[in-house]
Amino acid sequence: MEPAMQGKMFTILMGLASLFIVHVNGETSLPLDHQKLISDGRYHDQMQKMQAFKHSLLTRRQLATPPISSSPAPAPQATLQPTGSRPRVYQVTSYGADPTGKVDSTEALLKAIADAFNGPSEGFLMKGITNLGGAHINLQGGNYLISKPLRLPAAGAGNLMISGGTLTASDDFPTDGYLIDLSASSSSSSSYNYEYITIKDLMLDCKFRGGGISVINSLRTSIDNCYITHFNTEGISVQNGHETYIRNSFLGQHITAGGDPGERKFSGTAINLMGNDNAVTDVVIFSAAIGVMVSGQANTLSGVHCYNKATGFGGTGIYLKLPSLTQTRIVNCYLDYTGIVAEDPVQLTISSCFFLGDAYILLKSINGLAKGINIVDNMFAGSDKGIEIVQLDQSKGPFKKIDQVVVDRNNVEGMNLKATAARGSAQGNGTSWTVDFSPVLLFPNLINHVQYSLSSSGTKFPSHALRNVSQNRVVIESDIAVAARVFVTVEQGSTS
Ligand SMILES: *[C@@H]1O[C@H](CO)[C@@H](O)[C@H](O)[C@H]1NC(C)=O
Ligand SMILES: *[C@@H]1O[C@H](CO)[C@@H](O)[C@H](O)[C@H]1NC(C)=O
Repeated sequence: MEPAMQGKMFTILMGLASLFIVHVNGETSLPLDHQKLISDGRYHDQMQKMQAFKHSLLTRRQLATPPISSSPAPAPQATLQPTGSRPRVYQVTSYGADPTGKVDSTEALLKAIADAFNGPSEGFLMKGITNLGGAHINLQGGNYLISKPLRLPAAGAGNLMISGGTLTASDDFPTDGYLIDLSASSSSSSSYNYEYITIKDLMLDCKFRGGGISVINSLRTSIDNCYITHFNTEGISVQNGHETYIRNSFLGQHITAGGDPGERKFSGTAINLMGNDNAVTDVVIFSAAIGVMVSGQANTLSGVHCYNKATGFGGTGIYLKLPSLTQTRIVNCYLDYTGIVAEDPVQLTISSCFFLGDAYILLKSINGLAKGINIVDNMFAGSDKGIEIVQLDQSKGPFKKIDQVVVDRNNVEGMNLKATAARGSAQGNGTSWTVDFSPVLLFPNLINHVQYSLSSSGTKFPSHALRNVSQNRVVIESDIAVAARVFVTVEQGSTS
């Protein structure tokens, strides 16, 4: 128990540290002109060094053997333009990659990547991250068979794009590998492996061997318009670092458009965010056991349509596995027969989402903590099976520390509404009126606030009082019998 707790504390501190660093950088960074002014003394000196460095690279490349190529496409280094003005588009067929997907293209692709890495650079992005100046590895619309992950040759580089084709895993691709692997194959002087790597317009077919893309300890990574399928482990894995932006992409273990006969067997996780400050926007997850798994802080999910494995078959659309420091915003998402699970959520917003097919939100108690939760303005549609829109899993113990939890203003069709605020009334002729809010209130036996009025048109004006709120049942009593209606408003959401 002890080491696990320490691990968690460490993660939390790291999370805070990362946020803090970003903040500090933001405050201390100076406008460009200002920076140039104050560093002017060493500016020319640095420029000279850089030019010498570029020259040495140029010389090395000219000595290197030309790429094995059967294609008529010109190799980028064949031109004799000066270093700075040479285009930095690396056409993979120039390196012998086979665009028909028949012959293994791993080595050819790695060579193109290596050349992009050793190409002309323009100083640095973050400290220790060489700026590759927008180098572009162009897959030229081909489909390439690969038997090893495409790893970048060295850590500490950025401003590079890989785009425009299909990568397919071969039958002997390592089952624990990723087709594109942004991990550090060497140590770097930077605290991040990579910065501003763009992976764009790609189809990744993992052929049920391993995963699609792994991003480790990188900064400002962009994954845009990718179709990632047949992964066995994960479609996209993001570990440490921050600001990986995954957008406008489609991920599914099996290629299906819903109602798949094999749905019960779907496995794997489409997107696994194990880091902070990432965004998943406008993404469809059409098959996987878990759509998006989040175990880092301050991530945002917007426009995500999950119709991976249905909850009824044991699937989860979005799983928030970061008890006690969640800091996640889920907005404008479409949870289609598969729901959201959040463990001990602390700071969580779920808003403007659509839940279809009895999909619901499950708050799972780990240490009994639920704090700063807004589940508001969502739509839920189901099939009249009495499924509650927000549910509690208290199998590991009840939620006992509840604070600032608001579940309200959701609309429901064919499901049971649950909320932390409710209104009701009771008509009676006598001295006692009871309004039972237990069917609608989320937390059992928890009412923080009651407001009521007693309406009676008779000639008597009774004295009346609120007597009991136990078990979410509000009891009003009067001193004399009258025919009256009581109107009651209740709120829950805090145990303090
Ligand atoms: C309320 O109950 C009393 C006594 O049972 C009865 O006389 C009276 O008519 C009732 N009033 C109404 C409005 O039902
Ligand atoms: C309030 O109601 C509960 C049952 O709902 C009962 O057990 C309890 O004794 C009541 N408290 C008072 C003060 O009447």
